[in-house]
Amino acid sequence: MTDQHDKSRPEAGANAMWGGRFAAGPDAIMERINASIDVDRRFYRQDIAASRAHAAMLVAQGIISAEDGEAIEKGLEQILGEIDAGEFAFSTALEDIHMNVEARLRELIGPAAGRLHTARSRNDQVATDFRLWVRDALDQLDEGLADLQAALLDLAEKEAATVMPGYTHLQAAQPVTFGHHLLAYVEMIGRDRGRFADSRRRMNESPLGAAALAGTSFPIDRQMTAQALGFARPMANSIDAVSDRDFALEFLAAASILAVHLSRFAEEIVLWCSEGFRFIQLSDAFTTGSSIMPQKKNPDAAELVRGKAGRVIGSLNTLLIVMKGLPLTYGKDMQEDKEPVFDAFDTLALCVAATTGMVRDMRADAEKMRAATTKGFLTATDLADWLVRVLGLPFRDAHHVTGTLVAKAEAAGLDLAELPLSAMQEVEPRITDDVYSVLTVERSVASRSVYGGTAPEQVRAAVAAARERWS
Ligand code: ARG
Repeated sequence: MTDQHDKSRPEAGANAMWGGRFAAGPDAIMERINASIDVDRRFYRQDIAASRAHAAMLVAQGIISAEDGEAIEKGLEQILGEIDAGEFAFSTALEDIHMNVEARLRELIGPAAGRLHTARSRNDQVATDFRLWVRDALDQLDEGLADLQAALLDLAEKEAATVMPGYTHLQAAQPVTFGHHLLAYVEMIGRDRGRFADSRRRMNESPLGAAALAGTSFPIDRQMTAQALGFARPMANSIDAVSDRDFALEFLAAASILAVHLSRFAEEIVLWCSEGFRFIQLSDAFTTGSSIMPQKKNPDAAELVRGKAGRVIGSLNTLLIVMKGLPLTYGKDMQEDKEPVFDAFDTLALCVAATTGMVRDMRADAEKMRAATTKGFLTATDLADWLVRVLGLPFRDAHHVTGTLVAKAEAAGLDLAELPLSAMQEVEPRITDDVYSVLTVERSVASRSVYGGTAPEQVRAAVAAARERWS
């Protein structure tokens, strides 16, 4: 009888076909579930950089010969070139980027390739590569975010005096300037950049030298490899070094908050483009048509930025769940760490670019914005403030008087600025003509000149300060 599970003899026996298929089946599936090469090939540059640093250190410490070190260095350089040029044959059987590179190195330089893995494990190797990759990703995102801030600042400056309704509960609340509204996002993006920068500082320690989990008996120099790779220092605990993925979680957490910010802005863009608002226009560059309704110009890019936040938040959720409850140290579960991070990065990089594109593309309709401020009694607070300032009413009483005046105006179908003085005096006899000076939206925004307020002069000062701060 043949052994059905021995794939070296698939052709033998009565069950040759069935047996061969069965024996090959589990192996193929095992290979598929185990392999990460389709995902982790993305950090081949980081893998090769870390291997070069490791090899140079092994030579410096006299752990491998200079000759072997040189062969390894040359081989790795060639492999880098092959992958860069798209000439490298990746193999699923070789599981991941680490073994693919090492196998190719053996083809190129022979047995000396086997010395590269001295005092190292794939556990500290993957942790190192991934940290390096996330660090690069953070730097790239930061550049994109700086661009987005610059675009927002340019538009904010241009629209520093453009009045529009400010909302709470999506109900028109008080007049604000469009520039001021845009600057809110400059602040949010600034904190996002700060969160990325914080996580970068924390993650910038080298796991290399932790080896499998306990460190190594070879006299390696962890400072040297850390320095060569631009890390601030080696990680202090080998068990922690191979176990944790909090750097990836921090990236995803900061990424999720950024995605939420972008989605709120995207939602506002969608609203502003809609018939009820028409505050802005996007050009054909950032809109699409409908295949059935010829009149449509849809803000798809904004809708997608709004929607893609779900993916980024999902990625954070994925990795939190993968890591939760895992005993120390490494578990193969952790191989699942890369896809959510790569996907979140790709998604966000695109969303940041699309948002920047929309900001540069959008044209504000100042007339539409101003017209919207004449509905909804937006200067009611200014009226109440006038009653306090000029007549000395306690704010609560002023609030009540103003409420009565709003009801009166509403019943007469008038705006507050259109309500005759006589009608006002029926409610509060001491009101004078001077009250009309605060009832225009321009006066309203100009009066909010407190630091951080919406007055055009404040907005211009805030733009200048932000340019200084974020340059
Ligand atoms: N491909 C693996 C990963 O991404 C590399 C580490 C493998 N370590 C191990 N002990 N099998 O996690």
